[in-house]
Amino acid sequence: MVSAREAGHVKVGVLTVSDRASRGEYEDLGGPAIVDYLSARIASSWEAVRRIVPDDRATIAAAIRGLADDDGCSLVVTTGGTGPAPRDVTPEATMDACPVPMPGFGEAMRAASLRTVPTAILSRQVAALRGSTLVVNLPGKPAAIAECLDAVLPAVPYCIDLIGGPWMELHGGSVDPSGRPRA
Ligand code: MTE
Repeated sequence: MVSAREAGHVKVGVLTVSDRASRGEYEDLGGPAIVDYLSARIASSWEAVRRIVPDDRATIAAAIRGLADDDGCSLVVTTGGTGPAPRDVTPEATMDACPVPMPGFGEAMRAASLRTVPTAILSRQVAALRGSTLVVNLPGKPAAIAECLDAVLPAVPYCIDLIGGPWMELHGGSVDPSGRPRA
């Protein structure tokens, strides 16, 4: 049974991974799209902590560690760098920073995305835990954000609750441990 505690203030890291966006050569569309999506879905008090980094494995991992440990984010959502190209290293960097894999997230997001786009199979997106922080990779295309987050967001509040973070209320409801709608 989910604890009946009050919803707390939630910090969400929004990490855009893109060589060109980090150099200012390309407008970051993914980061703002994630903030817009979460603004429509999170009912409780929350704030976004935004970062943009190049497709460099050590830099991405350091950004994830900083968002989790220094900024106190309960959730970190990355966008970009999940494909098969040589500089697509976001999944590896995520696992460098996070010791506990959460494979169901990647499975659910790819399954949902494959219903709309066959190339969804090219995303190696993962999710994993660093202490009391859940990190979720999304592909770089803004259209992928809702397709992927729709598939996993209902389970995110309970996941954060289980790892010791604040309770996050969602518009449209989250799910309790039995899978029944909670709100
Ligand atoms: N998933 C969804 N929902 N929508 C998309 O358009 N694009 C795919 C895939 N997953 C896509 C998607 C494509 S074309 C690629 S190459 C991979 O995500 C990796 O994208 P990334 O390298 O920008 O992370």
